[in-house]
Formats: sequence, C-alpha cells, structure tokens
Amino acid sequence: MRITFAAPALPKSGAYAGLVTEGGTLASALDELNGQLDGALTRAIKASRFDGKKGEILEVVAPAGVGVSRVLLLGVGKPEEAKPLDFERIGGDMTARLNGTGEKEAAVVVDALADLGLEPAEAAARVAFGAQLRSYRFDKYKTKQKPEQKPSLGKLTVMAAAQAGAKRHYGKLAGIAEGVFTTRDLVSEPANVLYPESFAKQARKILEKVGVECEVLGEKEMEKLGMGALLGVGHGSERESQLLIMRWMGAGKAAAKGKSKGKGKTKPAEAAPLAIVGKGVCFDTGGISLKPPAGMEDMKWDMGGAGVTVGLMHALAARKAKVDVIGVCGLVENMPDGKAQRPGDIVHSMSGQTIEVINTDAEGRLVLCDALWYVQETFKPKAIVDLATLTGAIMVALGKTQAGLFSNDDELSERILAAGKAVGEPCWRLPLGEDYDRLIDSDAADMKNVGGRWGGSITAAQFLQRFIQDGTAWAHIDIAGVTWSDKDRPTVPKGATAFGVRLLDELVAKHYEK
Ligand code: BES
Ligand code: MN
Ligand code: ZN
Repeated sequence: MRITFAAPALPKSGAYAGLVTEGGTLASALDELNGQLDGALTRAIKASRFDGKKGEILEVVAPAGVGVSRVLLLGVGKPEEAKPLDFERIGGDMTARLNGTGEKEAAVVVDALADLGLEPAEAAARVAFGAQLRSYRFDKYKTKQKPEQKPSLGKLTVMAAAQAGAKRHYGKLAGIAEGVFTTRDLVSEPANVLYPESFAKQARKILEKVGVECEVLGEKEMEKLGMGALLGVGHGSERESQLLIMRWMGAGKAAAKGKSKGKGKTKPAEAAPLAIVGKGVCFDTGGISLKPPAGMEDMKWDMGGAGVTVGLMHALAARKAKVDVIGVCGLVENMPDGKAQRPGDIVHSMSGQTIEVINTDAEGRLVLCDALWYVQETFKPKAIVDLATLTGAIMVALGKTQAGLFSNDDELSERILAAGKAVGEPCWRLPLGEDYDRLIDSDAADMKNVGGRWGGSITAAQFLQRFIQDGTAWAHIDIAGVTWSDKDRPTVPKGATAFGVRLLDELVAKHYEK
C-alpha cells in the first residue's frame, strides 16, 4: 500500500477517517466536518453503540454535500493512555475495514489531540505503520480472485499537523515493514518453490540490493567444516542443504572511514556484537520418524526462524541501522528416503561432539547446533540469538501468542523480554538447568537429540546450550507457536506473522546501535 503524509484537509473523494476519544469527543478535524454536516456525526454516534473506546470503529456513509464517500470514526480510548501499539492497531483495524468496502483511497487525520500520550508525529507514523503491516497479502497463487474478493485500498494519506516529523519517523518504520514483508513472503511460500537453494538465492537477491553481504555454503563446504549434524538432516532430501551467511556492517561503515581499506571481504567482522541464527527447515516431514499426515502441510513454515533472520537483515539495512549484525541460516529439507538418516545413527557435529539421533523429527536442533558452532568459530560474537520453530511442546506450554525464551544471560533475556513487550511480540522465559541437561545424555554418544516426554521445549534448548561456548551470551526463542496465525490480528493478517523481526529490530535499536 502506498502511504503519504499531508497536512489535515478534507479530501474531495475516497474515505475519510479520524480519531474519537472515549466518551465520544471528536478530534478537531472531525469536529469541523461534523459542523459542516449539521452534527450528522454526533447523531450517528448517538444512534450507535460506538463510544470512542479503544478498538471501536463506526462507519458512517457520508451524507450528500461532501466529496468523501464515507467517514470512519476511530476510537482511541483515553488519549493520555494511548501507546504506540494502540495507534498501530488503529491503523491496522482501519485498513482491514476499508479493504472490505471497495474503497481505493483513504485519508486518516491524526490530530494533535490534547493530552496525547506520545508525540503527535509518532502517533501519526504509528497509524501509518499499522496500516501498512495489516495491508500485507500473500495471494500470488490465487488466479481466480474476483475484484470484490481482493483488498481494495491502495493508497492512504496520513494527515497530521506534524506531517514532516511524522514522515521522518515513518521512514524508519517503513524499513521495518519491508523486513516484515520479506519474512512473510518467505514463510508463506510452499516447499516445492522454496527449498534450501531457492531460499538462499531469494534471500540473496533481496539482501544484496540493500547492501547486505551474503555468502552461501553448499554440502561440500559444510562437509569440510565437519557439519555432520546439519548434513545428516538433509541426507534424505534430493535438495542440497545450504548455509546462508549474511553480514550487515552498518556500524563498520561509519567507523571505517579513518581506517585503511582493502581488507579481505571474508575476514570476520571485528567485535560483531550480535549474531542471529535461524532454523531453516524448508520442509519437515519428520524424516524416517515420519509425522502423521494431518497438518503436515504446516511444516512448510518450519523455516520460520530463517525467514525472520533474513527479514531482520533486510529491516536493518533498509533503515540503515548503525550496527554490525551477522545472520546465519541453516537450510535443509527433512525427508524420508533410502538415504535418510535413521533413528540410532550417530553423527559428528562441527564442535566435535557426537549425537545419537533417537528421533529424526527432532531435526531443528541438529541443524542449529552446527550453525551455532560455525557462527562462534567464525565471528566470535558477544551475543547470539537463535530463532526456531523448534518444538510442538512450546505451543502446549504457551499457546499461540507468546514465544518461549531460553537464555544463559539474565541481561540479554531481560532486554529481549522488554523489546518483545514494546513491539507486541511477547516472550516468556522458561528455565534451563543441570537436571534438564542430564535428560539428553546418551549411552552411545555424547548426547542424544531428544530428552523424553517431559519438558520437551526445555530439553531442546538444553541441547542447543551444549553448543554455546563459554563467555558467549545466548538466547534461544522457540517461535513454533507464533510463526503462523490462523486468524487476523490488528497488524498481522492471518498467515505468516514474521514474529521476531520487530522484536530483534527493537533489541538492536535499544542496545546495540551506535
Ligand atoms: N518443526 C517441528 C516443531 C513444530 C511443530 C513446529 C508444530 C511448528 C508446529 C520440530 O522439528 C519437531 O518435529 N519437533 C518435535 C520434537 C520431538 C520429536 C522431540 C515435536 O515437537 O514433536
Ligand atoms: Mn521435526
Ligand atoms: Zn522441524
């Protein structure tokens, strides 16, 4: 959707929307229009249950005499309590509503309400951001949609007295929205289209355009590195496994000016503060420990962690974040086949530790352990966050709105929890500990890849922690429950959510950016 900013003015056509506070007070622009219409808006409010509460919307078909076709009254509740996310929600809900009306253009006035809880410029930018996020559609494979089935809204003007400030503020948010859309696109693609090689190629195409350096390792190179755990997962697949390495050197660019040039491209970034590692299982059949058929199609989004990693890199580059971030995605397809690995097989990980594969469906941790080791050996990051649709058990524990967080570092953990809260991507921390760690000891190898029936998400995290080197702050976010939404939410349409992109962007902005 195209979004522009302008000074408040009554448009000549299209839909017109504005804010109403709890109790039914019209913001100034609407009040003016109400006057022109002899109080038609106040009458409409009286005749309805609309009260200006947070989340309420009243649609009024415009009476004759004004150019606009309809007026949307958007409840903000108590303005002094309104938070950035509330304005995003207003923008999102408004967009969803207008998309169902056939309206092609709309203007929304975000007046400088008295006692507004945040800067008017930010409020306007947040409305724009929410509208943009909700406007996302993945309908490229729907060839028979009738016009009335398609979302209609193509252009939104956000009107605010502080239009210049709003536009500036939205500039950053628009970069984040681009990253979110990249993730949603990748996660939505079916596995016949998006497999390890095409994922890497697609990511590269998107990222190199915005200045992210990409490198892709194939199976031969990974064999040389000794990544037997990751490679074992891909054995049963016709598709070649890949390791995608991305570098956004935003801080380096600013700092490198005085320094001598000509250093090798492949040289690890000095003191890369942060590394993001994503699980990229492009399809998870379970392998020889085959999953039951019902719902298996969902496993096309088992590369959600990798999708978020790519989307984050895109967002950071799009908003030119002053930070160095490394992204690594382990990309594989988990298939049953004559060549597939078997339960009982023992594989050698890059770290040198051996793993007994008890269940080939616990493949995410096998992919991640080599990707985690690789990123530490190559880049020596101070902190690592990994994201993975790792366990069904996390959905049993936390449902579909909060992600599971595991960490060896209280500060990193607190930062992630706060960032998640701020952007509406909440996480809940779960424990790690000796007792859980013992559950993955193996009789035949250094460890096994499953820990039994209880605490499945924790033993999975415990497995990952065995691949974290001393002194590295690490957090693991299990996003199995939050990667796909089966219903529309204010700023997240049904489908791929991109949960994690906004959270990590916020984490970077708050704690890692110069
Ligand atoms: N990709 C799945 C986890 C998953 C399940 C993600 C449902 C999203 C929705 C993962 O690879 C898996 O199969 N985990 C197993 C682990 C078990 C075998 C220890 C699980 O959760 O059942
Ligand atoms: Mn699995
Ligand atoms: Zn999986």
